[in-house]
Amino acid sequence: EKAGFETFMLKEIFEQPEAVAETIGDRVRHGRLVLDGIGVDDAVLRDLRRIVILSAGTSYHAAVAGRYAIEEWARVPVEHDIASEWIYRNPVLDAATLVVGISQSGETRDTIEAMKLAREMGAHTVAITNMMGSQITREVDSVLYTRAGLEVSVAASKTFTAQLSLLFLVALKLAQVRETLPQEELRFILDEVYQLPHKLQTFLDGNHPIDEIAQRHFEKPFFLYLGRNIGLPVALEGALKLKEISYIPTEAYSAGEMKHGPIALLDENTPVVVVATDHKRVYDKIVSNIQEVRARGAHVIAIATDGNEDIQHHADDVIYIPRSPAFLQAVLAVVPLQLLAYRIARLRGLNVDQPRNLAKTVTVE
Ligand code: F6R
Repeated sequence: EKAGFETFMLKEIFEQPEAVAETIGDRVRHGRLVLDGIGVDDAVLRDLRRIVILSAGTSYHAAVAGRYAIEEWARVPVEHDIASEWIYRNPVLDAATLVVGISQSGETRDTIEAMKLAREMGAHTVAITNMMGSQITREVDSVLYTRAGLEVSVAASKTFTAQLSLLFLVALKLAQVRETLPQEELRFILDEVYQLPHKLQTFLDGNHPIDEIAQRHFEKPFFLYLGRNIGLPVALEGALKLKEISYIPTEAYSAGEMKHGPIALLDENTPVVVVATDHKRVYDKIVSNIQEVRARGAHVIAIATDGNEDIQHHADDVIYIPRSPAFLQAVLAVVPLQLLAYRIARLRGLNVDQPRNLAKTVTVE
């Protein structure tokens, strides 16, 4: 059942091309996007004033990424929150709001309760889940499925990249009905979404310095992760993966926020993972953040886009991912971070598939 892999997590990391391909599946047909499962008429999508995305853990990181894509492409204000926070803050909602709940298992109590409340308050509710017939599907108006296949490892991997891909399709659907992107651009991005499985495969087949980096750092007491814009959810997810399976304390920050506190944590012993993929609006800023880190003697591991030689002047180590439009790179950039966390946990001799204190589904509040 592990199909020759040493653990389920490694198998699932390598199943990502298929998970994403299945999720995109027939939703992109000859350059056209079909997303009926969203269950809301185009007229309603056109008039939406706001989107709220609720979730927990890794699914929350998918929400953070979804927000960047939806706001950029569809120009609808998006709010995301941790379901267990949102529900207790006396939230403000109206019928012109679409509430999206993301839960891989579909059984997370926090997210289910939040969706129930959203529905009671009159919002249109949509669930994004990987599990047919799960509890969340019974508490919402409509369901969009990721089709990642069963994920056994407690730490999420392929369900995350499937969630990201599906959220990109939601963003593009909104852009299509709201006419917020020129036709050619929409087609171009759709085409690039369609190529993500192939690019994931190219990355997984390639040679990357991940083992060397893991060897050098697996005994370090702390890791910092930094990203900006779409790189932020990638950094958040990378940090969660490492902390969950290796028990090394991690922090993930928006890179611009580093100087407001976390910079005090840095010394020569600190590995700092920086998501420095191509994004014209933030790349130069990320490079200055890397310089600030290096000035404190910390060690920079950068995730960068193929063809970027400039980054080699700034970072100690670079892991390259295939080229893709800025937002879509999130799907690719998280893979080296999953693998880095994985290698480090193995070097520490830990049970990667079943980390201590964690359960695959959290059915308590
Ligand atoms: C991360 C992880 C957890 C889950 C969280 C939400 O690797 O496994 O953080 O992401 O418990 O789970 P779902 O998506 O099933 O609601």
